[in-house]
Amino acid sequence: MKNKEPLIIAVVVFFSLVTYYLVEPYAHHVMHKHVESEGFAYADLPAITKTGNAANGKELVHGAAACTGCHSIEVDGISASMEPQMAAAAYGVNPPDLSNAGVVYNDKFLADLIKNPAHALKVEHKFDANKGQMHPMVPFYGAGGDMEQEVADMVTYLQSIAVSKDELTPKMAFENACGRCHAMSYEKWTQIGTKPSFKHKKDSLEFDINVLDYEDSIKAYMGKLPPDLSMYIRSRSESYISTLIENPQNQLAGTAMPRVGVTAETAGKVIEYMKDAGDTKRHEREAVGQNVMIYIVIFAIFAFLWKKQVWRDLH
Ligand code: HEC
Ligand code: HEC
Repeated sequence: MKNKEPLIIAVVVFFSLVTYYLVEPYAHHVMHKHVESEGFAYADLPAITKTGNAANGKELVHGAAACTGCHSIEVDGISASMEPQMAAAAYGVNPPDLSNAGVVYNDKFLADLIKNPAHALKVEHKFDANKGQMHPMVPFYGAGGDMEQEVADMVTYLQSIAVSKDELTPKMAFENACGRCHAMSYEKWTQIGTKPSFKHKKDSLEFDINVLDYEDSIKAYMGKLPPDLSMYIRSRSESYISTLIENPQNQLAGTAMPRVGVTAETAGKVIEYMKDAGDTKRHEREAVGQNVMIYIVIFAIFAFLWKKQVWRDLH
């Protein structure tokens, strides 16, 4: 054979494809466990069967169920009874403000959380009541009436005070659902709130010390410090983060991170916020892509006209 090159290239291409076909999916499967999304349906939790009454729910939340003993509800004029770092020293983590819980969390999840926090949060491997390991959020055991009705009333009340879905910004979604555990230094977010720009160095240091105290408590509670999420949108795929939020146990079996129980919309907003923080140039990048396409089209038209002109002169 005179020219062996086509044969050689065919052999190389063939073996490359075979190797790719056999190895890549396997490596991919081993390195990135694929987890199917459950659509944030929380199918393991029972549906709410009663129609809730917001006024009764309000009385329970502020009264018999003692939610406000641990949680602030700013929209209802209930402020936190302790500084976040003090609350974390008491409970391991600062119980979140409940003003927008009704829109942030799935309703079935909220109902189950009120009755059995460790179950809803999927941390029963850490908090087994039979072994005396109580979850820091005390379950609601009923206020003497129909318990299912009482729980439905409280969920309806929380929904009635929350902002609408459209008013819930990505920042609010993140701070509500993740912010008590995770810092986001690119957005100046710490677990005790956004760090203000202080005039005096001393005030700035005092703030940092409170953050460190908070982090010590949460480390003791969770077994490790939840990571700063500024760059996670780059180091993990969007589908990984989404399925992790939906059920952390599916991605990291035995992890201390709870199932936070957010709705699909809230999870979408949290991811939006993570993109805004970790990938700040993405809107610009998309705009540049569009401009480049417009430039190419215009350039192509000129090139075509020019070519026509050149050839007209030659004929
Ligand atoms: C004894 C204190 C205490 C009481 C009482 C309490 N909670 Fe909590 N709650 C907590 C703590 C602590 C957390 C955070 C737990 C964690 O992140 O591991 C929490 C978390 C929550 C969350 C966030 C859950 C999530 O998925 O992120 C909601 C919503 C909530 N509580 C609602 C309620 C409601 C409603 C009541 C009343 C029925 C109530 N809590 C009563 C301490 C309490
Ligand atoms: C009650 C505390 C708590 C809350 C609330 C919480 N996390 Fe976490 N998170 C943790 C802990 C603890 C870890 C470390 C888990 C581990 O390594 O087992 C973690 C780890 C992570 C990781 C890293 C996973 C990896 O592959 O290493 C991501 C991403 C994450 N959380 C995202 C979120 C998002 C998004 C939210 C809000 C929707 C959230 N978390 C809410 C405690 C929390």
